[in-house]
Amino acid sequence: MAVANPTGPCLLRRSWAGGLVVLAVVLAATPVAGAGADDRVGRGRELYVEGCVSCHGIGGRGVSAADAARGAGGVRGEGPSLLGVGAASAHFYLSTGAMPLRDPDEQPDRRDPAYDEAEIDALVAYVASLPRGGPPIPEVRPERGDLAQGFAAYTEFCAGCHQSAVRGGVVVGGTAPPLDRSTATQIGEAIRIGPYLMPRFGEDRIDAATVDSIARYVLYARDPPDEGGFGLGHVGPIPEGLVAWLAAGVVLVAVCRVIGKRAG
Ligand code: HEC
Ligand code: HEC
Repeated sequence: MAVANPTGPCLLRRSWAGGLVVLAVVLAATPVAGAGADDRVGRGRELYVEGCVSCHGIGGRGVSAADAARGAGGVRGEGPSLLGVGAASAHFYLSTGAMPLRDPDEQPDRRDPAYDEAEIDALVAYVASLPRGGPPIPEVRPERGDLAQGFAAYTEFCAGCHQSAVRGGVVVGGTAPPLDRSTATQIGEAIRIGPYLMPRFGEDRIDAATVDSIARYVLYARDPPDEGGFGLGHVGPIPEGLVAWLAAGVVLVAVCRVIGKRAG
């Protein structure tokens, strides 16, 4: 009996090692997933069935409130059709971590993405492969943009909701998030698709060159070159303000001491 055998643990260890060798051989023999478009769509379909179908329906046709059933993990299924939304929308919602939602009634906010880059690629390829396709991921080139034009366009089209680019603002029925973590691509995508309560802006209102300029302005505004003051790495208005207050407090106390000594 292995239990009574003093060499038991040793045997056990050996079979562990054997298992690892077998596993390594199996892994080596498994074909590495190719980067082919078909593979990506196939992988995307698998991920879709696991994480999205409860709300967006079979083949992305959507689930209405009326036929919403309890989906995977107790998530109540209810979501719009994804036919025609395209790679731009899928990439925006997945790369900002807004999808998958946990509750169809919550605002799709930025979170740490639930999927890694390869999985996002696969899901985006799958959504883009659905009937009616949809717009591709826009190519945004902030380096080609013009800062002054970007500022003017931001003030005209975006500041009403997002206020200063780094702070965000409040809109009726939700919040306009700060744009401090949005990438140039996500800025271009948001402008074109109009996520959640945000309006969508077509090429007729904001052309591609203006999108480049807005992206340039937003990236600049949240990380302006330091001119005077303390460089705190732009950790945000509250910590920076706090540090300023603390510093001012220390100076005040020191001044009071000096004055106190002189008076005394
Ligand atoms: C009517 C108000 C409104 C206007 C105008 C507006 N937005 Fe938005 N924006 C929102 C809301 C609300 C969200 C949040 C969407 C969500 O929760 O998915 C958002 C989200 C975004 C995001 C995603 C941020 C993130 O990190 O998740 C970007 C980028 C963005 N907006 C850029 C812009 C730009 C650039 C403009 C101007 C061209 C603009 N918005 C105009 C309301 C607005
Ligand atoms: C709990 C339900 C739920 C789950 C799970 C979910 N979604 Fe959504 N999804 C929604 C709702 C509700 C909206 C509408 C949000 C809005 O108005 O911005 C939405 C919007 C979207 C949009 C934007 C559609 C458009 O009109 O542009 C995309 C793309 C999307 N989801 C993709 C996905 C993907 C991919 C997954 C799986 C990884 C997923 N969602 C999981 C509920 C869900």
